[in-house]
Amino acid sequence: MGWNSWNCWGLDVSAEKVKSSAQALLDKGLADYGYAYINIDDSWEAPERDANGDLLANDKFPDMKGLGEWLHDEGLKFGIYSSPGVTTCGNYLGSIDHEENDARMYNEWGIDYLKYDWCGYQQKWMTEKDNYTRASFIRPYMLMEKYLREQPRDIFYSLCQYGWEEVWKWGPMVDANSWRTTGDITDTWESMSDIGFRQQEDLYPYAAPGHWNDPDMLEVGNDLTVNQGRAHFGLWAMMAAPLILGNDLRSMDKETLDIISNREVIAVDQDSLGVQGFKIPVGQNVETWWKPLSGGDWAVLVLNINKEPVSYELNWQMFNMTDDEVSGRSTDFDKITYTVRDLWNGGKPTKTDKPLKVKVGGEDAAMYRLTPIKDKKH
Ligand code: GAL
Repeated sequence: MGWNSWNCWGLDVSAEKVKSSAQALLDKGLADYGYAYINIDDSWEAPERDANGDLLANDKFPDMKGLGEWLHDEGLKFGIYSSPGVTTCGNYLGSIDHEENDARMYNEWGIDYLKYDWCGYQQKWMTEKDNYTRASFIRPYMLMEKYLREQPRDIFYSLCQYGWEEVWKWGPMVDANSWRTTGDITDTWESMSDIGFRQQEDLYPYAAPGHWNDPDMLEVGNDLTVNQGRAHFGLWAMMAAPLILGNDLRSMDKETLDIISNREVIAVDQDSLGVQGFKIPVGQNVETWWKPLSGGDWAVLVLNINKEPVSYELNWQMFNMTDDEVSGRSTDFDKITYTVRDLWNGGKPTKTDKPLKVKVGGEDAAMYRLTPIKDKKH
């Protein structure tokens, strides 16, 4: 959990903007919810390496080590971006042939997170004899892994190569902590819903503690409506996705803050069972998503893809099922009664002994946490 500069500032990021964002994260109490990583995306890199082959930061970042120290003093973590190519996606210098230097430099600066973006590596890869083989996709990530893991720091390794060559199948092998599963998200309903609702559903068996599917950073608080932002955040929580904020934390409105600081929704995302939710469509552009949680609980999301609000009767008995593929957990609605907590609206919990009437706004999602009612006799 944390924040990254890209969705908010793109290549126009600076140390001042990063520091003031981190300060806003602290001032608004977001660190208390678990947001910890402050990640600089592309455009921090100097135009040339020094005589030792070390890559320094450009004028916008006059003191990387100092910035890292300040973040650490505030209890936060420090993230950075690079590419295995000659250049990054934004045409800044990449790490090619200098992976060892760069890993060492990250360690010196106190880096805790590296986003490593394929992009500019494409040109080199095109010239490789074995391109298009899985080995050719894995190679640059394996190389950086070797040097990263030689560092004394515990550095989160975040792969960014848009889900090519089924990265979810080999990400754990290069000790990646997360891997992007798709192309870039933007702050439109079309982009967010295409990535979130359509491109992730088959990937749920590949998420596991320490090795996560990454459907890209959050757009909550950017150009999405409140309903869309709620659907986005809820869905990312159901997917156990990294929650990396991408909005301007300094100027966000109350609705945005309320969404990203919903403790119970965050708890679904961060649940210690570490299982990604799966989807069961129920027709008329309504989907239900189900996520087994620790302690016998379940999270349920009811997503309305229509522009208009819908009413849907959630008959629990229709969802007696077992998650055979990952957790082995069954809902057992025919045997167990659960309490049902509405995670966005609060209020008195209901029970699964009768169907739940769900009202969901247009392009919005309702979200619930089910907890088994223990039989008092046992
Ligand atoms: C893209 C990447 C984005 C951002 C950008 C920076 O390849 O997917 O998330 O990092 O590069 O140039």
